[in-house]
Amino acid sequence: MNPASCYETRNRVVAVPARLKDGISDMVRRRQLYEGKAKVLFEGPEPGTLVQHFKDETSAFNNQKRGTITGKGVINNRISEYLMTKLGNIGVPTHLMRRLNMREQLVRELEIIPVTVVVRNIVAGSLAERFGLTEGDPLPRSIVEFYHKSDELGNPLVVEEHITAFGWASTQELDEMISLSLRINDFLSGLFLGIGIKLVDFRLEYGRLWENDMLRIFLADEITPDSCRLWDLETNEKLDKDRFRRDLGGIEEAYQEVARRLGILLPDGESSDITGPTMVQ
Ligand code: TMP
Repeated sequence: MNPASCYETRNRVVAVPARLKDGISDMVRRRQLYEGKAKVLFEGPEPGTLVQHFKDETSAFNNQKRGTITGKGVINNRISEYLMTKLGNIGVPTHLMRRLNMREQLVRELEIIPVTVVVRNIVAGSLAERFGLTEGDPLPRSIVEFYHKSDELGNPLVVEEHITAFGWASTQELDEMISLSLRINDFLSGLFLGIGIKLVDFRLEYGRLWENDMLRIFLADEITPDSCRLWDLETNEKLDKDRFRRDLGGIEEAYQEVARRLGILLPDGESSDITGPTMVQ
């Protein structure tokens, strides 16, 4: 079989259609390892790799609100590829290996650390609610928070002692996650400022991987308008998933605007399935 036309999986060789553009047509052929709210992970073509597939589905408030934003997966795939590549260029280890097609990227298989890191620059969301603060107020310094990744428990806010005591991450890993997160925040804040966008807050996920007898921490998951709060610098217009959470409409247009300002071109052929937001409650 022509190597270019096959995926060699751990267990078998599977034929892949020659003109596979959006990764949907081969979904049934590969072994699915995990399905989340916005992404699917498949076994990758080689050991130690995974295929991360971006869906159009979305959810909020711990799955209580669900919807479909047509074309979101295509845009998020490109935005996350762009931002992770930029972070890789400044030396942040990321799971991204390369984009495969419209909706998929090849990523390193990591042992995911069950802690979500949130970095905040401006008061918004749960920080405003928890402490009765005014949304939009700049914070005197960036705040790093940790949440335990558990949908059943509602992803509770945790402190560093929980993380080390429960063995979710070691002290050294935690220090590395904090230092990487602050570096990512500095870099992305500047990058977004340059295109007239405030990086209000964002969430990051990390995983560990043995490399040459060394355990290293890699940035995982995605960086997209699903995982960040992005406000227009002049108008404070929301260009992120809060448009879905708060029923503001214009979700897909907002995501496209972020891609446009980043200089990401979505060629006609690739965006032809983008017809406008379709909300399913
Ligand atoms: P929060 O203000 O709701 O705690 O959210 C903080 C940031 O984390 C915000 O940019 C959105 C992101 N986030 C997610 O990506 N997924 C989630 O499930 C939650 C709760 C927040």
